[in-house]
Amino acid sequence: MSLVLGIETSCDETAASVVRSGRHGDGPGEIVSNIVRSQIADHAPFGGVVPEIAARAHLQTLDGIIERAMAEAEATFQDLDAIAVTSGPGLAGGLIVGTMTARAIAAVHSKPLFTINHLEGHALTARLTDGVAFPYLLLLVSGGHTQILLVRGVGDYERWATTIDDALGEAFDKTAKLLGLPYPGGPQVEKAARKGDPKAFDFPRPLGGRETLDMSFSGLKTAVRKAALAEPERVDDICASFQTAVGDVLADRLTRAFERFKQEYSRPAALIVAGGVAANAYLRARLQTITQGKDWRWIAPPPNLCTDNAAMIAWAGVERLAANSIIEDEGIRPRWPLD
Ligand code: KG4
Ligand code: ZN
Repeated sequence: MSLVLGIETSCDETAASVVRSGRHGDGPGEIVSNIVRSQIADHAPFGGVVPEIAARAHLQTLDGIIERAMAEAEATFQDLDAIAVTSGPGLAGGLIVGTMTARAIAAVHSKPLFTINHLEGHALTARLTDGVAFPYLLLLVSGGHTQILLVRGVGDYERWATTIDDALGEAFDKTAKLLGLPYPGGPQVEKAARKGDPKAFDFPRPLGGRETLDMSFSGLKTAVRKAALAEPERVDDICASFQTAVGDVLADRLTRAFERFKQEYSRPAALIVAGGVAANAYLRARLQTITQGKDWRWIAPPPNLCTDNAAMIAWAGVERLAANSIIEDEGIRPRWPLD
């Protein structure tokens, strides 16, 4: 068993968490403490994340967040087996604050330090919550990323698809902005969509039916813009129609991904969703339906573990420790693809 402190400062959440591995160093694990301070209120007046403000807020709050995570876990730094910190991808200022702090703790207490790819954190969360076995398929949909990944093992990822234009979270945020809804837009669009008619607007399903697994959301955004200009009062209907189109696009791509997986492994496995957009209840329900009748296992971590958090980073540290997979501390990597 191992106990790891995780630190996450790559975007607009300052987070620290202590996680314990399962009995054999594997999953499912136990989240002993999980503190997340969102900076939404700091950035909301600007309609998006301001890197300079984010870096300052991380600097001002991280020490206190770590103290709280350790206190809630009733642990001392000496009790830890390792420190894990996000070193990319993300905003440079925040990444510097997180990695410098983690390095200092690791150095003072002579603990191993794991510099973790934020996307690996999202990719392995389902092993923390459900102990799911490799390989599996992951749909990662957040503000900066839209990918279908084959997760073969710790550090062994193959990207099967990406977006050729906007990230899905970005499409949600832009849709909200066009409709005058506050930042961050994803949860607002979801809320408005509940009151709207999903068939009110026939928005495009970009790349639908094509061979590729890639996704595209800019055409959908353009259609939303037109509708918002023509009928600005129909916010709920536009949101509902947008969300339905997104659900159809994701379902179409993933059904294809299932086929490709089956060609390689001759069996179904598990579909995991991760990233901020995976907190969306409508999309979760929609995607669950495509796993039914196909023998695919469906795993959606709780919404607070889909959005950014440090438990997933601590868990990636647990996995790296168990796999004896040392990562050289090469400093921050603001751009860092997973494969
Ligand atoms: O993973 P995340 O917390 O941060 C990044 O790494 O980007 O994802 C944030 C994104 C934002 O674009 C936000 O609008 C979107 O996830 N999001 C949602 C929902 N909650 C957050 N999108 C749709 N529905 C939601 N309920
Ligand atoms: Zn994220």
